[in-house]
Amino acid sequence: MEELIKAALEAGEIIKDGFKKTKDVKYKGSIDLVTEYDVAVENFLKKKLSPLFPEHVIIGEESSTGREEPEKAIYIDPIDGTTNFVHSFPFVSVSIGFYENGEAVRGLVYNPVMDEMFCAEKGAGAFLNNERIRVSETQETKKSLIATGFPYSIVESRCPDVLSMLGKVLSNTRGIRRAGSAALDLCYTAKGTFDCYYEFNLKPWDVAGGICVVQEAGGQVSGLDGKKHRITGDFIIASNGIVHEDMLGLIKC
Ligand code: IPD
Ligand code: CA
Ligand code: CA
Ligand code: CA
Repeated sequence: MEELIKAALEAGEIIKDGFKKTKDVKYKGSIDLVTEYDVAVENFLKKKLSPLFPEHVIIGEESSTGREEPEKAIYIDPIDGTTNFVHSFPFVSVSIGFYENGEAVRGLVYNPVMDEMFCAEKGAGAFLNNERIRVSETQETKKSLIATGFPYSIVESRCPDVLSMLGKVLSNTRGIRRAGSAALDLCYTAKGTFDCYYEFNLKPWDVAGGICVVQEAGGQVSGLDGKKHRITGDFIIASNGIVHEDMLGLIKC
């Protein structure tokens, strides 16, 4: 974990360097942005991690399709929250998730702008800047703060009801936040700020790092059917466990 933290801190320096600068913004889709910093951080981490973890296949957002599921994988999201990064909204992170035989075994999510380092290892607990974190104890959806996100193209979304579903969640909870980094949404669920987070159409690198953090903080992560979340799946819900079933009831299309 020490070497991983060191690599994330160095990657964070690249992100911090670019945060206030003008970026070279390219379009992967009509609102799906990528900058030279996304590419630089991914290249840096791949170079750093591949000799350290030779048995793992490294899958990064800017160089993979996201449908691969090798036995041992390291999923890298070099900048989760690229739109935030481009607009200098400080909710950005670098996310690194280790998967072995379909299980999240290690996760690290680092927001260099806010200096928040989340990390977890299977069986060893979840931490924010070296302090142990736990999910909330909120018992009801009516008292829950919910995080979510939206696909870059609602039209292409595999859940056409994404907007009407929002109405249902809004009227049965304390509110919804759309902060713009799936990895941090998961970590803020792990630390009890959010009681539940859900989103459609994510890719493995968006969630791999944060899933381990939520699970090690005592939370629950599943697919839309309430069963085990698959890293190549289309939907994720993470919660404190207590409101999980009720939230699934509100979300199901
Ligand atoms: C995005 C963020 C966002 C989520 C999008 C993701 P990116 O990742 O995690 O919160 O709503 O669906 O694609 O493109 O900034 O790495
Ligand atoms: Ca992402
Ligand atoms: Ca990204
Ligand atoms: Ca992206």
